[in-house]
Amino acid sequence: MNKKANGIIIEDVLKKLAIVLKQGQFHDVDNALVMTSIKVFLKLINELIEYDGIQKIDLIGDLFYLNNARVKYSSKSSVILDDLSREFIKRDLGSVAFTSQLSIDDIKVFLKIFTEAAYQGDSFESMKASLTHIEGIEVDRLKHIKEEEKDKRRTVITSYFNAVSFVKTLTTKLESKEKISVKTAKRVVGTIIDAIFNEEQLLFGLSAIKDFDEYTYHHCVNVSVLSIAMGQRIGLKRKALVELGFAALFHDIGKTSIPNTILNKPSDFTEEEWKVMKRHPYLGALSMLRLKEPDTSLISNAIVSMEHHMSSEHSGYPEMRNPMELDFYSNIVTIADRYDAMTSSRVYQRIPLSPDEAVRRMMETSHFYDPRLLKLFVLMLGLYPAGSLVLLNSGEMGIVCEGNPQCTERPKVSIIVDKEGNKVDGVTVDLTERDHAGNYTKNILKTLDPHKYKINLAEHLL
Ligand SMILES: [Fe+2]
Ligand SMILES: [Fe+2]
Repeated sequence: MNKKANGIIIEDVLKKLAIVLKQGQFHDVDNALVMTSIKVFLKLINELIEYDGIQKIDLIGDLFYLNNARVKYSSKSSVILDDLSREFIKRDLGSVAFTSQLSIDDIKVFLKIFTEAAYQGDSFESMKASLTHIEGIEVDRLKHIKEEEKDKRRTVITSYFNAVSFVKTLTTKLESKEKISVKTAKRVVGTIIDAIFNEEQLLFGLSAIKDFDEYTYHHCVNVSVLSIAMGQRIGLKRKALVELGFAALFHDIGKTSIPNTILNKPSDFTEEEWKVMKRHPYLGALSMLRLKEPDTSLISNAIVSMEHHMSSEHSGYPEMRNPMELDFYSNIVTIADRYDAMTSSRVYQRIPLSPDEAVRRMMETSHFYDPRLLKLFVLMLGLYPAGSLVLLNSGEMGIVCEGNPQCTERPKVSIIVDKEGNKVDGVTVDLTERDHAGNYTKNILKTLDPHKYKINLAEHLL
């Protein structure tokens, strides 16, 4: 299902833009057909601007994003949208931002500039120069990444998204009472472990990019990534990491037994709905134990499923008649689960917290968690976890792209806005760098809210 904003299906906005740009290649801008398409597009985009402010379309890899959210499109639209991405690439165009209400003339001029740019030496530069005359449309160049670096990162990104689609398939199977393969699930966990060994910080970054349409599946993988990374720091052997990763991946499996009307309810739960929702730990444990001859992984999962909302002081749910100390894996998954939920706009938090704010809140409520594991988690993510938006004393704004476990207040930061306030191409600065006098060259002044600044984390972290 495509995301909707103010009743408008996002896929349609891109499709209508693609049609305008396509028709502009064959007809004059004043052609009646082109004018009709321009009017249709204009109506949608102006409505969205009025409803939600700036509308920024980014092309990252093969995917389009509108205001940070991935645009999911149906197979019917794939031909026209693949064509649009080719036209963007041909012009080295990475993004178009519609910043204020537009007129028919604005779109006509934009269409003319876009069409003509394809025949210029530096298409992007000529387009950018010509567009300075239109207030309300801004463009940015396509980002290119070095090939070998790209391959390594691509493998890790593929493992992450494969894990997400695996959880999705498996959830569907469980919902329709089909058999599932525990062996395949463990293989998927194995690929996550390998990815963490290779590119842990990239995975932390990936888990910071929230996909609102497929929250549940991403959440399962994120909790598994964070749990395995903690397990690795504790020194768990691979077999134990697989067990922990597996239990984490399916900690919310009980939600497959909760009606979708409750799970996806956009407003607050009623008391009755909360009661149903709070049964998911128990239902998850039950479904795992019923799967087949329970092996140790399934038993571990059942325990984690049952305990992941209890909290270490048993103030959560379900309530136990004789409370016992939580299982070791449950304590790990509880922390990873709470962090990922807090940084997403679901159930616990209608407005998501920034990564650093979530860590701070967890430290303030440390009694809910195992204190040693929480300390380990905070050290692992650092004061500024990957995905945090920060302001440096140099006046630049950047996104934390790599934590620094040795010195958590000095991560690596990818600069996205220079001190004059211009958007820049993400030079990475290491905050441990010092000048000749031995002083740090740059420091973090404060963190900023990425949602307020409409920063597309996917663009900078992928
Ligand atoms: Fe849960
Ligand atoms: Fe969860």
